[in-house]
Amino acid sequence: ATTLAAAAQQSGRYFGTAVAANRLSDSTYVGILNREFDMVTAENEMKMDATEPAQNRFNYGNADRIVNHARGQGKRIRGHALAWHSQQPAWMQSMSGTTLRNAMLNHVTQVATYYRGKIYAWDVVNEAFADGSSGARRDSNLQRTGNDWIEAAFRAARAADPGAKLCYNDYNTDDWTHAKTQAVYRMVQDFKSRGVPIDCVGLQSHFNNNSPVPSNYQTTLQNFANLGVDVQITELDIEGSGSTQAQNYQRVTQACLNVARCTGITVWGIRDTDSWRASGTPLLFDGNGNKKAAYNSTLAALNAA
Ligand code: G3I
Repeated sequence: ATTLAAAAQQSGRYFGTAVAANRLSDSTYVGILNREFDMVTAENEMKMDATEPAQNRFNYGNADRIVNHARGQGKRIRGHALAWHSQQPAWMQSMSGTTLRNAMLNHVTQVATYYRGKIYAWDVVNEAFADGSSGARRDSNLQRTGNDWIEAAFRAARAADPGAKLCYNDYNTDDWTHAKTQAVYRMVQDFKSRGVPIDCVGLQSHFNNNSPVPSNYQTTLQNFANLGVDVQITELDIEGSGSTQAQNYQRVTQACLNVARCTGITVWGIRDTDSWRASGTPLLFDGNGNKKAAYNSTLAALNAA
């Protein structure tokens, strides 16, 4: 196959990208998007601040621009994200206690209901665990509403859109030995044992020199899958260039291909100039939209599966 999406489909997987609504008028960007990818994540437009700027007044304008473009092109959509400590609207940031818990659950219910039937998988909760060696939950206004806020969000999402896969999504959960990885693993294990609805774990997989692709990355994917959930690589980018970067992309792609329940890979942007990273060249296309060595190695790995 000659595109990432077609190559991934050969093994029943998808290959996606994050999309920014304000780039849908860029013909080079849209050309690559339409050609190469079959799954789309809104980079910012489905977040809480974007979709509920004032309490109970929902705004889906930019999110719908992305959803309509993707669906018009026959692409599926990962929803990102229903509940997160970051990118909350101002009105929510100052809330606490039962008021905040109910506002969060209302947000989950309203947004998941609005998009019911259109979302392949939702990142129901994003980045709820702390960095470092504690293995603890991240302190946040949502966490302070009670430790059960995550399962409450998943239950509300299931009720609102029973057809969407429900994912927990986080970063720095790639190395199997990290306390954060272990803590997320134990939460998923607990949810499965108690019947809390969860279908998938998203590994964001933002890699750079400080956080390289770990040697045990495939082990991490497999261990999560062994809990009875799908795993997805949800926000892949890898700093670097040339053959080193190409090898790293190949390794990540191969790790997913080696795990039956790794259902797809999403890169966090199209061209290097579209990346959230202020500088650097972490993506598969250069600023002119040309395929990089990392593109070729990723495509080759998918085609060899
Ligand atoms: O749209 C405004 C613009 O009007 C304003 O002039 C400008 C000035 O700062 O800001 C623009 O908004 C920015 C927005 O991106 C759109 O470009 C925000 O400041 C900026 O904070 C926001 O950054 C996003 C970041 O999440 C916020 O947390 C990145 O684009 C987005 O790629 C990034 O994505 C996250 C995932 O959601 C979760 N995992 C990590 C990943 C990378 O940080």
